[in-house]
Amino acid sequence: MTHRRMVLTGILGVALAASADGAALAQEAVKIGLVLPMTGPFASTGRQIDAAVKLFLAREGAVHGGRKLEVILKDDAGNADATRRLAQELVVNDKVSVLAGFGLTPLAMATAQIATQAKVPEVVMAAATASITEASPYIVRTSFTLPQASEPMADWAWANGIKKVFTVVTDYGPGIDAETSFAGKFKAAGGSVESVRVPLRNPDFAPFLQRVSEAKPDALFVFVPSGVGAQFMKQFVERGLDKAGIKLIGPGDVVDDDILEGIGEVALGAITTHHYSAAHDSPANKAFVADFQKANPGMRPNFMAVGGYDGMRLVAEALKATKGDASGEKLIAAMKGASWESPRGPVRIDPETRDIIQNVYVRKTQKVGSELHNVEFATIPNVKDPVKARK
Ligand code: PHB
Repeated sequence: MTHRRMVLTGILGVALAASADGAALAQEAVKIGLVLPMTGPFASTGRQIDAAVKLFLAREGAVHGGRKLEVILKDDAGNADATRRLAQELVVNDKVSVLAGFGLTPLAMATAQIATQAKVPEVVMAAATASITEASPYIVRTSFTLPQASEPMADWAWANGIKKVFTVVTDYGPGIDAETSFAGKFKAAGGSVESVRVPLRNPDFAPFLQRVSEAKPDALFVFVPSGVGAQFMKQFVERGLDKAGIKLIGPGDVVDDDILEGIGEVALGAITTHHYSAAHDSPANKAFVADFQKANPGMRPNFMAVGGYDGMRLVAEALKATKGDASGEKLIAAMKGASWESPRGPVRIDPETRDIIQNVYVRKTQKVGSELHNVEFATIPNVKDPVKARK
């Protein structure tokens, strides 16, 4: 064999081996371990995200960057010990390339160390305490942060003549974030704030609402996690606060689209700031809501669904960028700076913090035809998590 022939054969051999590898890689699915509360008090979050993940695969197909996405769904029932155990099993036994879901802050936090040690991206689709993305360099978030949603509320309240606010929040990460970010900004503007915190498990709002009723503030700022708003609003009415002329304000979790019809007319007039409303007026959102409702009759997508849908979009975009390489380091690098048009509007993953940069909308709960909706009437564009932005 001439030297030239040898070199050629060598190159061909390498090329053949590479393409055989490529074919094998393409056949091997990229597994996503999706851990959600499908049962227990926060099952509405699991149901919404699961439906959105399925919708993404139905609309966009399962193959991205030449690799097929395979989702393995596990129910942690909202229990952090279960989340940790399931995440560990998904990494070790199922060899997932991505961990995703995480319906509550303690569940996302419980998985951070596993993500770091296994170098597996943890896509947080729901949990929203600001500090979560600092718990591991492998955490990336497609939901929101409570300070991101709550600081614009302080600006709106002060600009609209509200001087005295009582805050009621659930006593854990996101509630404390909501309270401190709202109060910090509102007091700096000149307003006064009184605050109470309500337990996460089996909350009874009545004694706290009694204090609000006696304090007679201009507005009641409330954060409760998605799904709990109906119970809060029921006690709000029972205490007569709807008739006391106290305005209801806060991040949008309390008037979540999943339960808004169930809450009923007592929610009318609430002013909230949030990153997603099913009533968001864009062609992309109208198509998203229509397809979601067709696939899930009787259900309206809420902000959790959009976090899940965009989480899948992020994994798909990253795989496209890495040309199908699902190693953790490559994927997380590709996720930083990714941007796309979401049903909520334009979004981008902050390459520095791995949080999502997005519009925050000011909305009023009102009737649209026969339905209740959170109708957006002002936009604060491209909001970063303010806590990290100040560091
Ligand atoms: C959270 O636990 O981080 C969480 C849960 C539900 C929400 C917001 C934040 O609506």
